[in-house]
Amino acid sequence: ERERTFVMVKPDGVQRGLIGEIVSRFEDRGLKLVGGKFMRIDRDLAEEHYGEHADKPFFEGLVEFITSGPVFAMVWEGADATRQVRSMVGETDPAESPAGTIRGDLGLDLGRNVIHASDHEDPGSNEREIDLFFDDEELIDYDRVD
Ligand code: CMP
Repeated sequence: ERERTFVMVKPDGVQRGLIGEIVSRFEDRGLKLVGGKFMRIDRDLAEEHYGEHADKPFFEGLVEFITSGPVFAMVWEGADATRQVRSMVGETDPAESPAGTIRGDLGLDLGRNVIHASDHEDPGSNEREIDLFFDDEELIDYDRVD
């Protein structure tokens, strides 16, 4: 089923110049970019986005990290896009991510894992995250001819 999913290059990925590499991987896979925004996340947005981790010991560090510098937020569309993107991203911990995945190839550690993607095991997280980061008019409908 065709769907949209939320992806974000985290501050470590931006700092290390990995935006282009990451965008290329999704383009090459045939996914369609429908939204993109280079932005800074403020504290309120960070706390809402990571709300499910509010009770975790790493929450404060996570909020500090994600607000520490600009991120590149994106929306990608395609068949089964959330699951497809997740399989390209790898595991949360780069050390446990296979070579060939974004985190396996580019991630440094659990915090600096270069990318966020909506969770395919949390139905509705893609729509929720897209709504949190993008207004409707920022998402562009067009045909990608291949
Ligand atoms: P992500 O799955 O995108 O969203 C939650 C993030 O919390 C996760 O990526 C990690 O980057 C970060 N994180 C930091 N410390 C931990 C930890 N101990 N366990 C799980 N996630 C962590």
